[in-house]
Amino acid sequence: MSTYENYHRTSQVYDKTRTAGGIDIILKAMEEGILPLSEQVLLDAGCGTGLYSAALLNEVRRIEAVDLNAGMLGMAQDKLQAEEKQGRISFHQTAINSLPLPDKSVDAVMINQVLHHLPDDADSGWPEHKKVFNEFFRILKPGGRLIINSCSPEQLELGFWFYHLIPDAIKAVQEKTIALEEIAEQLHEVGFFSHRQEVPLDLILQDEAYFQHDGILDPDWRSGDSIWSLVEDKNLTDVLYKTQHLQKSGNLKDYMLKHDQLRKTSGQVTFTVAGKQF
Ligand SMILES: C[S@@+](CC[C@H](N)C(=O)[O-])C[C@H]1O[C@@H](n2cnc3c(N)ncnc32)[C@H](O)[C@@H]1O
Repeated sequence: MSTYENYHRTSQVYDKTRTAGGIDIILKAMEEGILPLSEQVLLDAGCGTGLYSAALLNEVRRIEAVDLNAGMLGMAQDKLQAEEKQGRISFHQTAINSLPLPDKSVDAVMINQVLHHLPDDADSGWPEHKKVFNEFFRILKPGGRLIINSCSPEQLELGFWFYHLIPDAIKAVQEKTIALEEIAEQLHEVGFFSHRQEVPLDLILQDEAYFQHDGILDPDWRSGDSIWSLVEDKNLTDVLYKTQHLQKSGNLKDYMLKHDQLRKTSGQVTFTVAGKQF
């Protein structure tokens, strides 16, 4: 469960501003596995409203979809009712550090935009992340692939135009965000044999909604990015005031374009791909 985002509320509006980006990277990583893609079982860890499961369901044999939040999981289940009945997807309301799946039972694990919700921090050495990676290692078959989609602390600062309005929230989310090097080190310690990291520069988490510059004024739009839950009420009032002022003076679009420049070289997300040895 996220310690800061109210996913019960967010589940109602999440799909308005989010899409399943990076499907090509996930498929490429899975194709490196032992079995042909169409025979693989995939775990969607922290599946949310099922955007990624829906995008991949026709490519694989079966998906195990796990999420701790009943609201998010319920949305995924509604979306994929027919496929659930056909036995092509199963839903589990549980934490990803203790999965209801046998050892060596899945061919691939994907975890999209979930790690920063784990109750963890650098001071304690990110033990929750280690637990989760160990659990993924346990349920993966030898030769299986782990695909992690996360924002690096640097990408949080450079990859989102509106983050310039909420610097305190950036700091707060950065403290909850494990560095890419640390991910790589933990994966190695857990036993994964190799890893690579890839930044798809054209991937935008909120897709077209990201460029809706007056979206900040809409609570549903803000719900599409959990960082807004870390903005204190007093600061939110200031941000809304500043945004309205920029809008009234006709400068809001220029503000967005100016602060969006660094995203083009930093990207918003990084995919880490690792494998389990035979
Ligand atoms: C930003 S959403 C990502 C949803 C989906 N993976 C996507 O990319 O569209 C984060 C999701 O992780 C889930 N989550 C957070 N911590 C979790 C945990 N420890 N175990 C299982 N699910 C968790 C939340 O409930 C939420 O649905």
